[in-house]
Amino acid sequence: MGKTIILTGASRGIGLAVAKYLLQAPQSCNLVLVARTEAPLLELKEKHPTQVQVLCGDVSDFSLAREAVAYALRSYGRLDGLIVNHGVLAPVSRLEQCDVKEWSKAYDINLFSAVEFVKQCIPHLRLARGRVVFTSSGAATGPVNGWGMYGSSKAAMNHLNMTLAHEEPEIISVAIRPGMVDTQMQRELRSQYIDTLGPKDGSRFVAAHEEGKLLKPEQPGTVIAKLILSAPQELSGKFLTWNDEVLANYQA
Ligand SMILES: NC(=O)c1ccc[n+]([C@@H]2O[C@H](COP(=O)([O-])OP(=O)(O)OC[C@H]3O[C@@H](n4cnc5c(N)ncnc54)[C@H](OP(=O)(O)O)[C@@H]3O)[C@@H](O)[C@H]2O)c1
Repeated sequence: MGKTIILTGASRGIGLAVAKYLLQAPQSCNLVLVARTEAPLLELKEKHPTQVQVLCGDVSDFSLAREAVAYALRSYGRLDGLIVNHGVLAPVSRLEQCDVKEWSKAYDINLFSAVEFVKQCIPHLRLARGRVVFTSSGAATGPVNGWGMYGSSKAAMNHLNMTLAHEEPEIISVAIRPGMVDTQMQRELRSQYIDTLGPKDGSRFVAAHEEGKLLKPEQPGTVIAKLILSAPQELSGKFLTWNDEVLANYQA
């Protein structure tokens, strides 16, 4: 029987690519899929009825984490992995114009829900000697105009990854920088936020799209999926770019 994994942000983009990889043979994982948009999750359930459980909801409702774990245990009797992949870019605004209440709501999604998922999963992952993979971002390590909330929440996620690896030696935990990926997040960025980013930061993203340089979700998605199955102990606590040479065996 395949491993049992909770995957957040599974409805599109990188998360959907991860789900598809993990469901196919020989991985044949059992997945608890979490997102707000039900249709794509139900589509996966229709194709893989015994391997998929759907949990629809907003991760800023922190009770979802406990529910996801209960769902995994009730359906499959164990938990081997957690992939914290969901995330939002907004609010995108320069610090001078920022609204702290908006930051707080976005932190509930990007960071505090991740803490709750980790907390709820720890006892079961310890038992299974399981793994956690966080979908982080290059924004964690460098500033972009207007990305204060996004980048700082990903920097905090990287620290959460390090803390988890340090406190729980039986759990292997890795944070991945997926690069610039052709998903709704990039479309949102180009359609709504280029002016806020300004010409220098904004033009990088527009050029990557125009020059066909955005990655397919399956590229980092495959790395994330393979890591949740077999990331080795020596990577625990690390923040790595999806195509880092130490991850050569995890790329498609
Ligand atoms: N695309 C890039 O270039 C890029 C670069 C670096 C890092 N990343 C990271 O990669 C991850 C996946 O992003 P993506 O590019 O695949 O973007 P995406 O297509 O916008 O997908 C985001 C996913 O997160 C879920 N999500 C967002 N808010 C949620 C909420 N409140 N409750 C539950 N689920 C929520 C969405 O599902 P619903 O809307 O259905 O709820 C969706 O499944 C994110 O963590 C992002 O920060 C992306």
